[in-house]
Amino acid sequence: MLLVLKANSDELGREAARIVANAVRRNPALRLGLATGSTMLGMYHELVRLHRQEKLDFSRVVTFNLDEYLGLSASHPQSFRYFMQQDFFAHVNAAPANIHIPDGSIKGNYQQYCASYEQTICDAGGIDLQVLGIGRNGHVGFNEPTSSLGSRTRLKVLSKETIEDNRKFFAAGEEIPQCAITMGIGTILEAKRILLLASGASKAAAIAKAIEGPLTASVTASALQLHGDVTFIVDQDAGAQLKQQEYYRRVLEMTAILTPERL
Ligand code: GLP
Repeated sequence: MLLVLKANSDELGREAARIVANAVRRNPALRLGLATGSTMLGMYHELVRLHRQEKLDFSRVVTFNLDEYLGLSASHPQSFRYFMQQDFFAHVNAAPANIHIPDGSIKGNYQQYCASYEQTICDAGGIDLQVLGIGRNGHVGFNEPTSSLGSRTRLKVLSKETIEDNRKFFAAGEEIPQCAITMGIGTILEAKRILLLASGASKAAAIAKAIEGPLTASVTASALQLHGDVTFIVDQDAGAQLKQQEYYRRVLEMTAILTPERL
């Protein structure tokens, strides 16, 4: 586990984009897992800048989004597909056929649909680099507390806390989705490399539990402790409750000297 501590969310976004961009430069056909949420905006904006100014090429990159609300069409402004289009895909040269986002408009046959999403990931050869955010309750994707740590892509009922966190994005009186389709923890853990971003004081407890707490389905991000190649990028506020900050700093310094390719 590597932990990179950044001063603020702008620096965090640039660092995440640097890692993603390096991965794309090393492997132009990278299979890239993507996430949504306000924490991701800085990273996407920087990737767009790198595409425009440094010709970062996404034409062969294959993307898989983590999750989507059930019941929202692609044109709904709060759908994750809309977010991805507005904040990223409309501004880079990713091929539409290479973009995969769970379809929130499906009705029925959920199990079959989710199994086919898993199969598409598998057929592509698996995910090389998965980017994650984290919920206040420690969820990754929409794997709410008590999700099975072996779970696969499936329909998930959202917790009250998640619904409340997202209320601000919806118009007054508008119904907020109660369910989502999300990659499972088991799916996420199969990615070769994982990058988790967290910004702001509201994420501090979740980050401390995920990194320094016990492995538990009550904080699904703690399952990342089972993965061999995870980098957390957190800003000062999100990292504020970590007890071992000094150790993570030393690990990072030694990594830069001994195995800089990991960075
Ligand atoms: C939603 C998404 C998560 C994301 C989280 C945090 O719950 N399903 O994948 O990590 O929001 O969002 P934000 O970055 O806006 O705090």
